[in-house]
Amino acid sequence: MSLPLSKYVWFDGKFVPLDKAKVPITTHAIHYGTSIFEGIRAYWNKKNLFVFRLEEHVRRFRRSGQFYNISLNFSDKQISDAIINLCKKNTMKKSCYIRPFYFIGDYGINLHVTEKAPTSVAIFSFPFGDLFNKNGITAGISTWRKFSDMSTPPQAKMGGNYLNSIIATQEAKRNGFDEAILLDHNGNVSEAPGENIFMVKNGQLITPPLSSSALEGITRDAIIKIGKDLDIEVSEREVTRSELMVSEEVFLTGTAAEITPIISIDRKKIGNGKPGDITKKMMDEYSDIVMNQNDDYSYWLTSVY
Ligand SMILES: Cc1ncc(COP(=O)(O)O)c(C=O)c1O
Repeated sequence: MSLPLSKYVWFDGKFVPLDKAKVPITTHAIHYGTSIFEGIRAYWNKKNLFVFRLEEHVRRFRRSGQFYNISLNFSDKQISDAIINLCKKNTMKKSCYIRPFYFIGDYGINLHVTEKAPTSVAIFSFPFGDLFNKNGITAGISTWRKFSDMSTPPQAKMGGNYLNSIIATQEAKRNGFDEAILLDHNGNVSEAPGENIFMVKNGQLITPPLSSSALEGITRDAIIKIGKDLDIEVSEREVTRSELMVSEEVFLTGTAAEITPIISIDRKKIGNGKPGDITKKMMDEYSDIVMNQNDDYSYWLTSVY
């Protein structure tokens, strides 16, 4: 799948044409997965382009490298400005996806990664619509478990960690499902390969805690806040596989997936097999918020123009 990438990318402090942004084959990240990335969306509402929760994404970007002492040699302000200015440089006037990443460059075959390992930072973007069918997708419980803090830090959004997501996705697709759901090291529900998961039980919103190796998702956090503001009870607690199967509604959250209903798990219908009322409410609220149609949450948006 080749992406409709925008003409300019930001590479180590400069805007360069896409075909000029190259790395050597000795790049450490290619060999060992020592890359850190974020996925950010910006929304075009026909008047302006709004980056959703930019500050939170930039904060997580830096923190992901800290688990491994991998340095991000630009300040948060420089990264935020680079993201905004990249949209401007590409005269982006469509909703888009923005991918900032930094990675260890030429560091030989050295596994002793320290702050001194050389790093580069790049950002690219492309126009982007829906990742999944918003009428609902099917999911299968993966036989692969989500890795836990017993092996590598689940909160580090790093290249190497996504091999677990890739193998779970391959299995789900082989079995005819749209998406995988991973269980944690104890057999409780963790998350999907690139999304957090919520279920509705007795009208309450429930999502697995970070101790179930779920990423501290920025969309997850948004849904928790929106739910509470709507006077829906929200809890972060362990979720068993069996209660997920008989829950009233299930949906995924993520920057790329936004809010995506799950209508069946392992071919067993969730609720009546259609997106539930709370899921639909969350989808509506979320799309109003990202399009700057809800003043209560406009502080989550950074305007580009
Ligand atoms: C493993 C994983 N879980 C959850 C999410 C959702 O996080 P966010 O809402 O911050 O995009 C992502 C995407 O970044 C992810 O890669």
